[in-house]
Amino acid sequence: MFAYNTYQLALDCGRRIGSGAFGTVIKVLSSISTGEFAAKGTKKDLFHARCKKYSLSVTWDTEATIMRAVGSHPNLVQLHEAHQCRGWQILILEYAESGDLLQHIVSNSCLEPQEAALLFAQVCAGLSFLHAQKVAHRDVKPENVLLKENSHGSVAMLADLGLARFCQGGCYSLVGTPQYRAPEIWFHKTTTCNNNGYDEMVDSWSAGVTLFAMLAGELPFDDEDLEARICKGDICFQESFQGQPLLDLHHVICCLVVMDPAIRFSSEEARTATLAYNLEKQGS
Ligand SMILES: Nc1ncnc2c1ncn2[C@@H]1O[C@H](COP(=O)(O)OP(=O)(O)OP(=O)(O)O)[C@@H](O)[C@H]1O
Ligand SMILES: [Mg+2]
Repeated sequence: MFAYNTYQLALDCGRRIGSGAFGTVIKVLSSISTGEFAAKGTKKDLFHARCKKYSLSVTWDTEATIMRAVGSHPNLVQLHEAHQCRGWQILILEYAESGDLLQHIVSNSCLEPQEAALLFAQVCAGLSFLHAQKVAHRDVKPENVLLKENSHGSVAMLADLGLARFCQGGCYSLVGTPQYRAPEIWFHKTTTCNNNGYDEMVDSWSAGVTLFAMLAGELPFDDEDLEARICKGDICFQESFQGQPLLDLHHVICCLVVMDPAIRFSSEEARTATLAYNLEKQGS
């Protein structure tokens, strides 16, 4: 553990490495430890204003609470410290020097299937770790997957647990990024909820859309009527991959982006199927 003071000076001079709807992220150094860290700062009043605007029922300290509760995993960005001071929450996180997966997809137009499979299996491993503890991430998308390098190659880590939730009792709120949102989340916008709500299987849908984005360099649902298309199950992947050989990885997408969560691939099933694809490729 590090002392807060050791970061304080660095926070003033840190370079901004990212920002999202809720936070600004800067790179910081510790004076008592080698290595670089990322500090994600969220302003309390801004956070509450955003939640009100988008009718989100999440709290300011959800991210730190859930990260502490689930513990560490190689495919989940590590939380070193969390502080609240003068209306700010500051999370000191493991620094991912290769940026996020969206930046990586955009700079390459799209990813080669083998690289996509290696990264995607890790995303699924991180998700599977959360799901085993009944935590739904609820905002799986390439911007929330961070990349770093180690001696074995690229490591993909799930990040941004700001919308995550323990989901034993079912979730009901309309959260997440529209293009990646599972149909059962949309349904809860219009339905009077006397059923059991939705659960962590919403992440499987978003993971399928993420794998699609990795391979195609575009999104399957990105138009004005995306809600209608998603809720009708108007899903057609073939066009985007026309002219390419149909891969087992495309089959993984088709098993994840499935209307009925009861028959959708779980994160663990997706991880296993993607690992099998990797093994086959390494063996051939
Ligand atoms: N630990 C980190 N290392 C490197 N870059 C990071 C790190 N954490 C976040 N970033 C960068 O900052 C961006 C925003 O971070 P994050 O997604 O946590 O913020 P947010 O405000 O909660 O985002 P959202 O708009 O998805 O709710 C990420 O997409 C990534 O590019
Ligand atoms: Mg984010």
